Amino acid sequence: MKAIRGATTVSSDNAAEIQCNVKELLVKTIKANGLCEDNIICIMFSNTSDIHSYYPAKAAREAGFVNCALYSSLEPEITSALKLCIRIMIIAETDNKPQHIYLRGAESLRRDITSKLTIAIDGPAGSGKSTISKIIAKKFDILYLDTGAMYRACALACVRAGIDCRDGKSVKELINHAQINVNYKDGAQVTLLNGEDVSEKIRYPEISMLASTVSAHEHVRAGMVELQRQIASDNSCVLDGRDIGTNVLPNAGFKYFLTASAEVRAKRRLLENTQKGINQTYNEVLNDIKTRDEQDRTRKIAPLVKAVDAIEIDTSEMSIDEVAELIIKSIQEKI
Ligand code: DC
Repeated sequence: MKAIRGATTVSSDNAAEIQCNVKELLVKTIKANGLCEDNIICIMFSNTSDIHSYYPAKAAREAGFVNCALYSSLEPEITSALKLCIRIMIIAETDNKPQHIYLRGAESLRRDITSKLTIAIDGPAGSGKSTISKIIAKKFDILYLDTGAMYRACALACVRAGIDCRDGKSVKELINHAQINVNYKDGAQVTLLNGEDVSEKIRYPEISMLASTVSAHEHVRAGMVELQRQIASDNSCVLDGRDIGTNVLPNAGFKYFLTASAEVRAKRRLLENTQKGINQTYNEVLNDIKTRDEQDRTRKIAPLVKAVDAIEIDTSEMSIDEVAELIIKSIQEKI
């Protein structure tokens, strides 16, 4: 018999969020420990005194844990304690070594027994970063953060306001008042500009080029990097971008730098564009890619460059699955 510990947090005392986060915690803990309901004897919950709107145990019942004993209790009020926190202890019949799971704000509670996965994937446009990052995030059941989407949202904000992305002063003024954020719907990133879902609108070629231009401004990067670090500190995740391994998360546990020839990348992007109904010739795409590479590599702040400790993978002659497998294997060997 083993006792398996876990905890998570909520951002507010909201019944729907408590239900959702408790379910996430249970599902991940049970999966990580190879359990099924039949070998769970009981699940005990405790929550901090700032949670009133929902019994965590009720969320377990509603998530389908109907045969095991459930119990909820209230934790003492400790001034320095993590707020809005829900803890679990699962007593289960298993011979496996317990895998304790601490999610969201609760990751900080037990760094000694949980290992947060932080994976940085950098590289130029069309090197396969986003496709590979999504596969890896799915494989390890962790978050995927597309950091390029944030700079794209900044560019879209400039276009809508009629501001030239090269004009640092006007961009700064605008970005100070724009709200760029991301959230997740069914595991997929949703990019928000002033609360509007702009995930699709930021994918056009004009926006790609402007995102590169706007991302060169120091104040734009400062705001975006802060948000990226915040998301990465709360979650195990894969981040893709240009400066993740060098600047955003220099201590990331795993770093990769994907490359491919400009011609191969242009062919891939052309195919993607055609599938999305975006009309561009091969030469236009190739030209955009080369211009963007040059801009991203030569800017003063956090340019596109391989971190010294990143593993470089030339994906020109490799399939998506081959690249993903290579990365997954190299991670599995170390965790
Ligand atoms: O990855 P992407 O094509 O969506 O990125 C669009 C632009 O955003 C890219 O040309 C440069 C910029 N970017 C950046 O400067 N730093 C990042 N971490 C991600 C993107």
